[in-house]
Amino acid sequence: MPDTLHLLESCLVAALRAAVPSAPADVDPQVRPTANPQLGDYQANLAMSLAKKLGQKPRDLALAITAQLAHTAAGVVASAEVAGPGFINLRLAADFLQRQTAAMLVDPRLGVAPAAQPEKVVLDYSAPNVAKEMHVHHIRSTCIGDALARVLMFLGHQVARQNHLGDWGTQFGMLLEHLLDQGWTAASSRPIEDLNSLYQQAKSRFDAEPAFAERARKRVVALQAGDPTSVAIWKALTEESLKHFRTAYARLGVLLTDDDIRGESFYNDLLAPTVEELHAKGLAVESQGALCVFPPGFLDRDGNPAAMIIRKSDGGFLYATTDLATLRHSVDDLKGTRLIYVTDARQAQHFAMVFKTAELAGWLQGNVRAEHVPFGTILGKDNKPFKTREGGAAKLADLLDEAEERARRIIEEKNPSLSADEKQQIAHAVGIGAVKYGDLAIDRVKDYVFDWDRMLNFDGNTAPYLQNAYVRIQAIFRKGSLDPQAAAGYPIVFTDPVERSLALKLLQLPAVIDSVAQALEPSRLCGYLYDLASLYHQFYEKCPVLTADSPAVRDSRLALSSVTARTLQKGLDLLGIATIERM
Ligand code: ARG
Repeated sequence: MPDTLHLLESCLVAALRAAVPSAPADVDPQVRPTANPQLGDYQANLAMSLAKKLGQKPRDLALAITAQLAHTAAGVVASAEVAGPGFINLRLAADFLQRQTAAMLVDPRLGVAPAAQPEKVVLDYSAPNVAKEMHVHHIRSTCIGDALARVLMFLGHQVARQNHLGDWGTQFGMLLEHLLDQGWTAASSRPIEDLNSLYQQAKSRFDAEPAFAERARKRVVALQAGDPTSVAIWKALTEESLKHFRTAYARLGVLLTDDDIRGESFYNDLLAPTVEELHAKGLAVESQGALCVFPPGFLDRDGNPAAMIIRKSDGGFLYATTDLATLRHSVDDLKGTRLIYVTDARQAQHFAMVFKTAELAGWLQGNVRAEHVPFGTILGKDNKPFKTREGGAAKLADLLDEAEERARRIIEEKNPSLSADEKQQIAHAVGIGAVKYGDLAIDRVKDYVFDWDRMLNFDGNTAPYLQNAYVRIQAIFRKGSLDPQAAAGYPIVFTDPVERSLALKLLQLPAVIDSVAQALEPSRLCGYLYDLASLYHQFYEKCPVLTADSPAVRDSRLALSSVTARTLQKGLDLLGIATIERM
């Protein structure tokens, strides 16, 4: 099926060219859904931006374009009006919308065309640290990154997921040294909870005992040089952590597997050559025994050129060194053309400096680009970074337990007659979905307050609200003993304005998915699905489906319901959230 927005855009460009033959063919007609539906379905702003270039008044140009639309958009646009200084308000033909929606219903991709130029995307997300338990803040990178992976894959891009585990570096020096002091060998093993507290102990010693700190630093260098004892214990620690990460990922329903693991340690052998190359290119200079890059345009707190240390005076490499090596690997070996890093906003400067350095070194060039996808902090009710009552970071596992438990209590109250198994399955989908959606629905760079009532509200912009809209539609088909698939092929006829609004919204799916892929902003998909579900609820109140006045109207409403259900399901799936059949 032709995409609604693209079709409208080409009608406008054709109208422009008919009105002004000298107009360029590659203009962006700037079509957006109108903010106020009273004015029309879409607004086009091309007359405003092109008038000057074409030597016309914006309003005159807009009038000339609308006059041509009668020819170039026959059957697509029902009316076009010029407003204000030269905006064009467009209303689509009902007949066109009806046919488009019916076509969407039979299209397995729901009208979303694969990208014209599929690319190799290297997507770095989740990346928890070994020997530490996952905590609430890990939801962010894990869920945002996973939603982006799903959307980009749906558009036909090849996505190399990279789980850049923090499994190397200074913190292992501390931990290994502390464990060796306690007589650890490679055969020693302790569950992740214990590693967590051993890590805390190591950290306190590192801060308090200079001699220990010195040994810890030497230990990192030994580990990085492949010292067998250090490596053996390190491997055992990593394996223990992986068990913990696997459990969390399975529970969250994210795509990450062991195959996606590219921890910091993976890049060990690339560190020295990366540093050497920067040195050889004159980009890295000695400063107080350390080797640093001073990428232009970055200042430290005192207003001096900011240094990015890539090799310490003791020979140890750092986080930045690893990221530079990672970037080269992503370009040279993985052949990525779009490199995406999903981390908290506090790392924005780090990535900007890494990218600038890579550009100067010639590693990032041509069509290859790197993007940092920053996100804000999860806050507690006190507006400070979310902590447990005891003051520690809230463990992810505990939080997911609580989510499922709260969801189970709500389900118990709303639908006590379900079987225990079903309740369990629904509580899982609703509880985990609520937490993930609660994270994805807010502009990602904003901080947000972690609030169970917001996330589990059945009437707000939440996972349960969307899951419930889907359930409502499934219930209609169950009640009528109908297969939702059967609606495919039913013609759609509008008998009420809300049906038209619903169809119009459905047909915006491809544009929304494109914009998520461009801006790397899953909240746009959430906002869209919420609007769609709200319209469906309005439709449901006003337009009886099974008891419609005539078989033709009933079939049309079944068709609208079916395509809405599929859109909700697909949309939630792209966010990594499950749908359920009843709740
Ligand atoms: N492990 C890091 C952290 O916990 C995140 C790593 C992100 N990816 C990267 N290539 N630096 O903050």
